Amino acid sequence: MNFATNIVLTGFMGTGKTTVGQILARKLNREFVDMDALIESRAGMTIPQIFERRGEDEFRALERRLVYELALRNGLVIATGGGALIDDDMRETMVQSGMVLCLNASKADIRARLAENAHRPLAAGWERLLEARASAYAKMPYQIQTTGKTPEEIAGEIAALDRGALYAHTPDGGGYPIIVGRGLLDRLAAEADSLGLAGHVVVVSNETVAPLYAESLVRTLPNANLIITRDGEAHKNLDTVRGIYDELLKLGADRGTTLVALGGGVIGDMAGFVAASYMRGISLVQIPTTLLSMVDSSVGGKVGVDLPQGKNLIGAFKQPRSVIIDTDVLHTLPPSQWRCGMAEVVKHGLIARPSLLDPDLWNLENAERLVRGAVQVKIDVVEVDPYERGIRAHLNLGHTFGHAIEKVTEYAIPHGEAVAIGIVKAARLSRNLGFINDSLVEHILKIMWQIGLPTDIALDPERWYAAMSTDKKWKAGRSRLVVLKKLGEAAVVEGLSKEEICAVL
Ligand SMILES: NC(=O)c1ccc[n+]([C@@H]2O[C@H](COP(=O)([O-])OP(=O)(O)OC[C@H]3O[C@@H](n4cnc5c(N)ncnc54)[C@H](O)[C@@H]3O)[C@@H](O)[C@H]2O)c1
Repeated sequence: MNFATNIVLTGFMGTGKTTVGQILARKLNREFVDMDALIESRAGMTIPQIFERRGEDEFRALERRLVYELALRNGLVIATGGGALIDDDMRETMVQSGMVLCLNASKADIRARLAENAHRPLAAGWERLLEARASAYAKMPYQIQTTGKTPEEIAGEIAALDRGALYAHTPDGGGYPIIVGRGLLDRLAAEADSLGLAGHVVVVSNETVAPLYAESLVRTLPNANLIITRDGEAHKNLDTVRGIYDELLKLGADRGTTLVALGGGVIGDMAGFVAASYMRGISLVQIPTTLLSMVDSSVGGKVGVDLPQGKNLIGAFKQPRSVIIDTDVLHTLPPSQWRCGMAEVVKHGLIARPSLLDPDLWNLENAERLVRGAVQVKIDVVEVDPYERGIRAHLNLGHTFGHAIEKVTEYAIPHGEAVAIGIVKAARLSRNLGFINDSLVEHILKIMWQIGLPTDIALDPERWYAAMSTDKKWKAGRSRLVVLKKLGEAAVVEGLSKEEICAVL
């Protein structure tokens, strides 16, 4: 007896529900139920015959009865008919019974698949039917984009979700799994098929991370090469990108190649930018290895490089195919880098998830839980605001103050430390504006001390303010800063006076 909840695959005809369902069921060692096939065998006729002899209403009634029946069972992989869960009540019934995923495909894919299988009823006016059902499909809790993926890869993605992977929805109606766990790097080769790593893979890493993790990973994958870049923000530029393009061409990388970014945020941003632009875009898998890149930069799709004139001035949005977070790699991370990542974790705790502020979580033993909680905050924000037009700005809590510190000190202060000081300044500003009280400011100071992060710096306020006022987000000299409305909630305030800001500097 399998007590796991059901996995229900729904979606329009031709999106691969049955093929993917069969592979998934084999993979998870579960029973597979194809609703259409079961209805046919029970009725003793094909679905076109049911439509012809008894009419569509009768077919829907059979489907409805079967939905109720299957929802009472456990541990199944179910492929529904394309119209079975359009009705709110049917959808809710299945959602109560397990994980409901909608498979989506491009119109070109659907057309091609229907052409192979012309006997389906309703296939004739399929484009209008798809439009009519689109809003109902959009209500399914998980959206899986199938175009460009093999059924094995789609099944692998869903299997990862079943094992507790997180999932980030993207604006194109798809999304990607974020797999968080221990020892994942050692198991990647065994899962290469389902993770999109079975074909030609090029791993991009740097001179520090490559000997630790990338070289062994490349040896275990069936068809992989490695490109090693210099370490450090100073190399996150177009020269390095150009070098990676050259290497890719030498390695014969084509549009079917998958790029794996294995490293901290610098590698993720840079390799991500290469994946967004090489041959107009190739597949990207992010394997972040610093705490910061795990909880922040690997999720959300922002990629890019620096120019001599400023950081991250060249970039793109490139959603990864998956993000694989093996928290075991944090064992080799220098403590200073751990602390810098913790500044972002604290930020996520303050703006959305106060449970992250529990000191019991701030250690390697609990890294998996810590990362899961913190990355979920990032997912929640980027799903609502993928292109940074609204609440994504909340992720900048403390960053305008922090970026200015980096600028004035000519990057002598590490980013995470600058952010920590910035968060304290933002908290003091929030207190001055009457949003939060002294005790929360004190609490934040204590958190930073416990982690070993600084809370202040001796800088000339005039220079500090001047550096802040060049922030990209300030419009025509009008200030724009993120403050705390209360613990777990941030807001953007605009148009504060220089005096109000300098009072906390
Ligand atoms: N795209 C985004 O949304 C986003 C968000 C935040 C930050 N960023 C970018 O991220 C970058 C900063 O990322 P970072 O803090 O990860 O810095 P980083 O990539 O420079 O890594 C820090 C150092 O740790 C080393 N390292 C990485 N993993 C290691 C491991 N497991 N063991 C030992 N050493 C390891 C690196 O080689 C490097 O020396 C910046 O360029 C920033 O602009 C991007």
